Parts: sequence; structure tokens; C-alpha cells
Amino acid sequence: MIYLNGDFMPIEEARVPVLDRGFIFGDGVYEVIPVYSRKPFRLAEHLHRLQHSLDGIRLSNPHSNKEWSHLLERIIAGNESDDQSLYLHVTRGVAKRDHAFPKGVMPTVFIMSNPLLAPPAEWLATGVAAITASDNRWLRCDIKAISLLPNVLLRQMAVDVGAIETVLLREGFMTEGAASNIFVIKDGILLAPPKNHLMLPGITYDVVLELAFANEIPHEVREVSEYEVRTAQEILLTSSTKEIMPITRLDGKSVGDGRPGAMFALLHQLYQNYKSTVMRGGTSTFEGNH
Ligand code: PDD
Repeated sequence: MIYLNGDFMPIEEARVPVLDRGFIFGDGVYEVIPVYSRKPFRLAEHLHRLQHSLDGIRLSNPHSNKEWSHLLERIIAGNESDDQSLYLHVTRGVAKRDHAFPKGVMPTVFIMSNPLLAPPAEWLATGVAAITASDNRWLRCDIKAISLLPNVLLRQMAVDVGAIETVLLREGFMTEGAASNIFVIKDGILLAPPKNHLMLPGITYDVVLELAFANEIPHEVREVSEYEVRTAQEILLTSSTKEIMPITRLDGKSVGDGRPGAMFALLHQLYQNYKSTVMRGGTSTFEGNH
């Protein structure tokens, strides 16, 4: 079951007019929210980022957080899996094609759910391959925009060579992955690029940094150079759907000794523990944000 502009229906019945500005211009924003045991993970943070994205494209939020929560609850209840990946999407609505914002148009609101599948055990056991590429996206990568053509092309470059992600480099520094955030481990220190307009402020990224802080894992939030990426002991990828994964090959070369490392093992375990605590009803946000 999906939600579209006020109605719940099977996805096969959902229709959007061709003049929707999402279709014509990619004029909209989205969120992907993981659901574990039918509870949305870090919902407040995802809704906060949605507001940031909407502000970034100057579109007013069609719903209060309470309304979003109710809609998402109904979608979760209307779908089979206990673990789900919620996709929600707001566009500037349907209007005659003209770049300038239309007046008096209702935004299009769409929510769907897919089963959230844990990453294959093999990926966690041996790690995954990634490639690097020059980050040729725009300068507002902090907006979770539905216009994802650069990300689509960049990630396909990885898939074309049997890798699963593309690590993006801009002017000698690492920004993020085509659809994930990237951490580098160098001299035993977890390095994270600072949140700015060049990367999406990942919700999983925040959880990882909070776990590092709470568990006194040495970490630094600062620009990470291409050299540090290429000489890293470990590289980790994070996203709502992939959680934490070890990248053990980069551009065909081994990362460190080519196997998932100690930092991955520790953070992965802490992440799983944290998830279970939250899902048992504990708080889903640590005190003090990074
Ligand atoms: N993508 N950076 C980019 C460019 C992303 O697309 C994503 C997630 C992330 C990780 O953010 P988070 O931890 O909040 O999921 C970073 C989602 C999963 C997607 O587009 O499917």
C-alpha cells in the first residue's frame, strides 16, 4: 500500500500527471527512513532533514511532523515486512511547464514502502569493492533532491565494473559516496568529512559519530584528503538501507589488508546493539549532537 495526495492505494493504482514538476524538472525532495520491527528509526532526525531539504528548494512543508508520523504509521501497518524502507517524496506539484515556481499549486506527496533487507552476510564478512570518481554534482548536496542524475551516473560507473559504490572526490578531498556517506580509518582514528553543502548530512553518519563519541573511539571530523582515502587502513560506507559496510577494495586495490578491519567490527556491533536498544523502546537520540 502506498500514499499519494491524501489517498492510500496499491502502488499499481497510483498515478501522477505528466506535468508534475517532479517528472518535468526533478523539482522535489525525498527521504528514505529505515523501519525496524515496525518502528521508524530516527524519525525526528529524518523529518528534520526533510524540512532542511524543503527549505533549500523553497517549498513549504505540506505536513506537520505529527501528520507525517500518522501517514508513515499507516504505511508501515499497510505493508507486510516488519523491517521496511520508507520512501517519502514531495514535489512542487502539477503546473504548465515553466521553470519559475507556479502559484497556488498543491505539492505532490508520495510515500511508499519496500522490505528492508539486511546487507548480504558475505558483504559484511569480506567487504565490498568501490571505485573513486570526481564529484561532478552541484554545490547543494546537502539537499536530498529527487534530481539524482549525477548520483545515478556515478553509481552506475561502480556497478559497471562489479563494484557497489563510487567514492566521490572533489578538489583533492573526499565528499561522500554516490548514495552513502564514507568514513576513513587512518592511524587508528575514525575520520569523517564535516557536514557542509558538499555532502548529504547522513542520519547513519550521525549515529556512527555519536557511537564513536559515547564509546571513546578516537575520531576526527575534518576534511579527508584523497591521499588519506588511498592509504586508509579501513574505509566504511554508511546509509539508512546499508547501515555500516566495509569497503575492502578501492579502484581494484586492497584497502589495508583487504579484509574488514577492527573499527568496522566494533562500529557494526555497536550499531546493532544501539538499534536493538532503540527498538526495545529506549530513546532513539543520544544527548548531544555532532
Ligand atoms: N541515500 N549520501 C547520499 C548521496 C545518499 O543518497 C545517502 C542515502 C546518504 C546516507 O544518508 P542516510 O544515512 O541518512 O541514509 C549519503 C538513500 C538511502 C537513498 O537515496 O536511497
